[in-house]
Amino acid sequence: MRYVLASDHAGLALKEVAARRLCSRKIDVDDLGTHAGEPVDYPDVAEVAARVVARGEADAGVLVCGTGIGVSIAANKIPGIRAAVCRSGYEARMARLHNDANVLCLGERVTGPGLVEDILDAWLDTSFEGGRHQRRVDKIRALEKQED
Ligand code: RB5
Repeated sequence: MRYVLASDHAGLALKEVAARRLCSRKIDVDDLGTHAGEPVDYPDVAEVAARVVARGEADAGVLVCGTGIGVSIAANKIPGIRAAVCRSGYEARMARLHNDANVLCLGERVTGPGLVEDILDAWLDTSFEGGRHQRRVDKIRALEKQED
């Protein structure tokens, strides 16, 4: 299992927390940065990581900014990406179970490190349920094609 990680400057510390948790779960982590506190624009980091997931070069992604909102909006512009902002284990479980989300978005200014570990565990321990949810995810893919 391989995950790609990225954050802007406002998500740098929480990205480190996420990376450590993923490593402790024996997941290979490809951290695309940012690695310094200099301001970077969240659409740029979100795009690079989301494209890695969309190309199938990572199983999933974790994106972090101040709120998780900016990176999720940007990542969801990339075809094939289903990015979900999660602030609870329940949301992380449902994002995997029902939405087959492939990018987890976190907000460092919103969610503390302990809770983020729970969110990651819930995400990692849950698989897509398929069935009626597959039909709905297929409709999301169809929406993307309409915009081509
Ligand atoms: C950066 O100040 C902040 O706007 C960004 O990290 C994010 O929260 C945007 O959604």
